[in-house]
Amino acid sequence: MTDTTTTTTDPRGHIFITPEAFADMDEWHRVAAELRREAPVVRVEKDGWTPFWAVTRHADVFEVSRRSDLFWNTEYSAPGPDITYQMLQALGFELPRTLVHLHGEVHDKYRKVTNDWFKPAAVKKLQPMIDRIADEYVDKLAELGGECDFAQDLAVPFTIHVIMSIYGVPESDEALMLELTQGLFGANDPEYLGDFSDPGALIMQTIGKFQDYFDALTEDRRKNPTGDLATVLANGTVDGAPLGETELLWYYIIVATAGHDTTSFALSGGLEQLLRHPDQLQALRDDPELALNATEEMIRWSSPVRSFLRWAQEDTELSGVRIPKGDAVLTSYPSANRDEDVFVDPMRFDIRRPDADKLLSFGLGMHYCLGAQVARREVRTLLMKLLERTRNIELAGEPEWSATHFVSGVKHLPIRYELG
Ligand code: HEM
Repeated sequence: MTDTTTTTTDPRGHIFITPEAFADMDEWHRVAAELRREAPVVRVEKDGWTPFWAVTRHADVFEVSRRSDLFWNTEYSAPGPDITYQMLQALGFELPRTLVHLHGEVHDKYRKVTNDWFKPAAVKKLQPMIDRIADEYVDKLAELGGECDFAQDLAVPFTIHVIMSIYGVPESDEALMLELTQGLFGANDPEYLGDFSDPGALIMQTIGKFQDYFDALTEDRRKNPTGDLATVLANGTVDGAPLGETELLWYYIIVATAGHDTTSFALSGGLEQLLRHPDQLQALRDDPELALNATEEMIRWSSPVRSFLRWAQEDTELSGVRIPKGDAVLTSYPSANRDEDVFVDPMRFDIRRPDADKLLSFGLGMHYCLGAQVARREVRTLLMKLLERTRNIELAGEPEWSATHFVSGVKHLPIRYELG
């Protein structure tokens, strides 16, 4: 066991929480690879943040996720500066209680409320709806006249439309949902900060708006149940009682937000790579059977959820480093997904990669992404319809990345295309 008294913090560890670091993923991956080799479990300290251990290797991220008896999810599971939590409390908000903030039996009970909705057989039934929405968006290619921003014109509105259709929220409210998601996840990115000088203030206002919106939705679905996901949540019970007010609000928020931002980044980041590898794009056109594996590779490569925090319940050890009881560990999914011990030539994008299914982009264990099957179908469906509808697609400019440490990726992807 390594003696932690000799462990000093390593400034390279700031890449996991510095928003701007995620706007240059080549450099980010260069540093993460160095850390995997030299300091795979690295102590990170930064002003305004509770110190934590960043876990960079596949085996360790796997272990932390699997050992949920030892590493717990808490109210502080989403990595963020302390001020965010202090402001929430100062303004009288309770700390978040989404599925990723709950642990053990309570988590299981809350997860059961929607679990059936997201099981593979149930998700398969969503395919006609996903097809219809994907058709609607690829139809827009004709209107857009040969050039567009794939991320903002297709991937983002498509994924929002799918998740809102699952909820049963009207199309007219989707613009608001997009604004609120970006307010919550993208608050550090100047593009989304708008008139706010401080990301914390934007986050606070966003939570308030989410609350107003979902309170009204709950009231409606309790009076007029329709069988959509909002009805399941509004009328769901835990231990025979309706979901707690805070839990219900955060349940809505996590499905609404985690349900599209993530998937749209997988689509735009994955398509960027296909456009940089025209031979692979062509192979996919020639053999649509490659779509399943290509989807895994796009999600491995883009790894849109950057990390979560878990809290050690006992003194323990990871890659020879002692983690004291009570300390936080950060699971770096993009780093785990490029671990050379697991993936052959990990920095190569390859839709035929036989080890693509080792990806950790959806996490693992009891918190494994609830929407993983929906996300996979969305990515595959939009991608294949895009290829069916076009004869040729190429990059029409440099992609732009969002500068956000929690959920991020390619936010602008200029493309040029000819319809088929
Ligand atoms: C490519 C797209 C997506 C990625 C990369 C992704 C990634 C993740 C990750 C890393 C976790 C945490 C896993 C863990 O702690 O072990 C998670 C949890 C979750 N995701 Fe996703 N997600 C995606 C799409 C979706 C979609 C489409 C939905 C909803 C329909 C969704 C809903 C959730 C929920 C509710 C949880 C919490 C599960 C729990 O704690 O029990 N996600 N996701």
